[in-house]
Amino acid sequence: MRVGIVGYGNLGKFLVDLILRNGSKHELELDFIWNRTYTKFDESIPKELILTDLKNVVGRSVDLIVEVAHPGISKEYGSLFLTVADYFVGSPTAFADPQVNMSLREAALRHQHAVYIPSGAFWGAQDIQKMANMESLHGLTVTMKKHPSSFRLEGKLKVVNDKLMQDSPATAAVTLYDGPVKELCSLAPNNVNTMAAASIAAHNLGFDKVIGRLVADPSLKKWHVVEVDVTGNTTADGNTFSVKSVRKNPAAPGAVTGSATFHSFWNSLLLARRQGPGIHLC
Ligand SMILES: NC(=O)c1ccc[n+]([C@@H]2O[C@H](COP(=O)([O-])OP(=O)(O)OC[C@H]3O[C@@H](n4cnc5c(N)ncnc54)[C@H](O)[C@@H]3O)[C@@H](O)[C@H]2O)c1
Repeated sequence: MRVGIVGYGNLGKFLVDLILRNGSKHELELDFIWNRTYTKFDESIPKELILTDLKNVVGRSVDLIVEVAHPGISKEYGSLFLTVADYFVGSPTAFADPQVNMSLREAALRHQHAVYIPSGAFWGAQDIQKMANMESLHGLTVTMKKHPSSFRLEGKLKVVNDKLMQDSPATAAVTLYDGPVKELCSLAPNNVNTMAAASIAAHNLGFDKVIGRLVADPSLKKWHVVEVDVTGNTTADGNTFSVKSVRKNPAAPGAVTGSATFHSFWNSLLLARRQGPGIHLC
């Protein structure tokens, strides 16, 4: 399977390195690498693999295009990618924009290609998707707890979080946001990919009804914590189905991406094949 990588930051380098070293074991071969800043590539990258203009994906024999750059790539190029290949969306917050959501779904169907969404730190994605398929999913809340220095925020959330970091000694945990994931995606685009994946899996609720909570906790110096709370059907005698999971991922102080996430991403990439047209969590 020929793979094109869009973005050469932490995740892009990790994936390119693994494909160049180990790809053949998994039937993966690099077709191209693109990055906004061309000078970032060192000599380990064969020149013939470097794509200078993303519009030139047309005409290449690439099977899967992997975005690990920015949600803006899906908006600008996602539909074009789907004319030639399957598309692995590393920054699924892009789907919070209803127009991007619709255009990617339409392009996937029209060109009979798959869109793959890595489940990332979202535990139980497939089970939740099954509940959404059966309309038995009634509530989903994803809570992300991190040290304030591990958040990259915009707007009003940034103001509150910056103040927390200046406070000395560290104060108690503060809930920065508690509401629909849709609004949160533009306020914390690099932190809430997990919540975006949740909103895509929970398609009967979507970005408007899946609830995201961001908690800045100064005591969490070495951990990223993700809690998933699910509610389902209620029986006639008033008992409600529920699941709660707590994922604790060791992370270096200040890191936006926890260490387990890189390997989770690689495993998602290995699953991103032969699933047919449509949207797939992997
Ligand atoms: N799905 C998940 O679970 C998950 C986990 C971690 C990161 N991510 C997302 O994957 C993407 C890459 O993460 P990373 O840790 O490698 O980030 P990074 O900052 O290390 O690298 C991003 C790369 O993309 C480029 N870039 C930045 N903004 C761009 C833009 N507007 N247009 C084109 N290129 C741009 C940068 O030059 C850089 O090379 C981010 O969007 C991040 O939010 C997703």
